[in-house]
Formats: sequence, structure tokens, C-alpha cells
Amino acid sequence: MNIQKQQFGRTPEGHNVELYTLTNSNGLRAKIMTYGAIVVSLDVPDRSGNLADITLGYDTLAEYIKANPYFGAVVGRYGNRIANGKFELYGIEYKLAANNGPNHLHGGIKGFDKVVWNAEDFKTKEAVGLKLTYLSADGEEGYPGNLQCSVTYTLTDNDELKISYDARTDKATPVNLTHHSYFNLAGRGTSDILNHEMMLNADAFTPVDEGLIPTGQLLSVKDTPMDFTAPTSIGVRINRDYQQLKYGKGYDHNWVLNSNNDGSLALAARVYEPGSGRVMEIHTTEPGIQFYSGNFLDGSNVGKGGKVYKHRYGFCLETQHFPDSPNKPDFPSAILNPGQKYTHVTVHRFYTR
Ligand code: GLA
Repeated sequence: MNIQKQQFGRTPEGHNVELYTLTNSNGLRAKIMTYGAIVVSLDVPDRSGNLADITLGYDTLAEYIKANPYFGAVVGRYGNRIANGKFELYGIEYKLAANNGPNHLHGGIKGFDKVVWNAEDFKTKEAVGLKLTYLSADGEEGYPGNLQCSVTYTLTDNDELKISYDARTDKATPVNLTHHSYFNLAGRGTSDILNHEMMLNADAFTPVDEGLIPTGQLLSVKDTPMDFTAPTSIGVRINRDYQQLKYGKGYDHNWVLNSNNDGSLALAARVYEPGSGRVMEIHTTEPGIQFYSGNFLDGSNVGKGGKVYKHRYGFCLETQHFPDSPNKPDFPSAILNPGQKYTHVTVHRFYTR
């Protein structure tokens, strides 16, 4: 078990960016940098014990700064979309950037994925970790309130990468922090993810309009290509003639998790890659999960080791509150008030079969 720290580069504004390498007792290794609290790589063994990096990303800071479709990043202040970049809270209307057609996406022009976080590493008996903190100022990207956030990555000797989020505010504000790693469990991002078998512990999803804004309904997944209650290859139904898949250009939707509804950890997803035998389980305290099948990847991102990330070479599973919750009174509330504490825990557990 150990932690190493090195210089990763410098932002154009002159901020130093550090890269931390966390290694657990079994050799699993996570590299995390202070820019965007980004997981740069995650080395996990296959069924023969060979390590490979199962996340997409870049080799250098400059490439992350230039054009990053949220590879490995923490997303905030509000992950996912807010319709027309507008919401009303206690009678005041707030206006956010429209950075995704008419809508607001992933915290705006300069979201939490593009800021430099403070970091402190730590070690316990059975884990190594990194606590990252960031103060998002009142008015940043149009959001109300000074929001003091922390994101703690813990790599345990049970082969789990645990992500714990905390936040406090001095004015009511929407908060929806999530993690946006693109996974390819085959390793090194050299093939599409369509053969991965996935189970989502969700009986319903939130259907969207053509701008990927939820209509407000919860729709049963039964008899639709959205049904992943039993393990199913991602690719078998992805090109079906189904309106929701057309809007998403594939899967890009929020599933309503069969959670315990009491803020405790519950199984959200299990993904298995038959070639390598790798399995990733996701447990979360959040009510929803965005499954995005890498539909916007088109070969224009050349990643680590010169790998060209083509269409659907990675998938994301973003644990979250439902998209556009600030405008959907029937969805679980994503509003944090002064005096309250936002918490969110997601555990990624790795093993092989
Ligand atoms: C999320 C969104 C997608 C897309 C990706 C990043 O998953 O739902 O529509 O924006 O992030 O490209």
C-alpha cells in the first residue's frame, strides 16, 4: 500500500497540478490529479491477474485542458442538465450558462471538472486515499451561495474505489456532484464497450425530450430496450427503433434506482467484460444513475498511449440526482440549504469472474 505524489503540470493561469498515485495491497492503482479531481487512470487486474487501465483519458495535463469530454472528472455544481439554464428558488430566478444547446450541462462553462482542487492524502490500516476540497464562490457559473465541497477518493484493500462527497452552503443552491469516468473493462480503451454485460438495479427510468431533458415521468423499463434488470450486453438493443434511443443517440439516460430510500448504500449496477473477466459493481446512496454509452465519441479524442477513442469505446455510470430536478418538483430534491450537509457516497468494487 502506498501513495506517491508528483508534479503533473501547470495550468495556463499558473497553478501547479499534482498527480497522486494510490496503490492498494493487491496492486490496484488509481492516479488522480488535482485539476478537475480527475481520475487519470485506474489499473485493475483481469482474471489472470494482469493489470490494465480501465479508464479513458490523456497522458498530459495540456490535453485535459484543451478538450476533455469529462474523462475521469468530478462534475459539479450540478451534474447533468438543467432545462434552459434556469431555475427558481424561494422566489428568485437564477440564470446559468446554456452550454448544451439551450440547456445547462455539467455545471457550466467552467465547472468543477476544470478547477484546481486542494488535496491531502491519507492512509489507514486498510486503505489509501485522497481528500480534495474546493470552495465554489457565490455566483460562480450563476449558482447562489458559497459552496464548500470535498471529494474523497479511498482505494481499499477490498479492491474498492470509494468516492465520498460532502458540501455545505451559505445560501440555498442546487447541488448534484458526480463522477464521470469513462470505463472500458477490457482495458486500454482499444475496443468498443458493446459486449460488456450490464445489470442496472432499476425498474424505471426518466424519459427525455430531444434535448435530453426529462419529461417528468418515471417510465417502467419493462418490455423496452432500457430494461437492464437482468444482465444484458450493452450492444444488443442499442440500435433499436425506439424513440428514447434516438434522442440519446444510444443510451444517455437516467435510471431510477431501486434504492433503499434512506440514504444508505445500495447496489446500482454490475458490469462484466467477458474477455478479461473484470467485473465492476457500483453501490451508491444516490437515487439515480446516468448510463451514457459514449455516443459522442467519434475518434477525435486521441487518448493515453495514442489510442483513438472511437464511437462507444467507453461508458459512464454517473450516480446522481435526476437531471433537471431544480425544475421538477416531483423529483427528489437536489436543493441544499444552509445548515444542511450534502453527502453522497459511491463505491466501485472490482473483482473477476
Ligand atoms: C453526460 C451527458 C452526455 C454527454 C456526456 C459528455 O453523460 O448526459 O449527454 O454530455 O456527459 O459528453
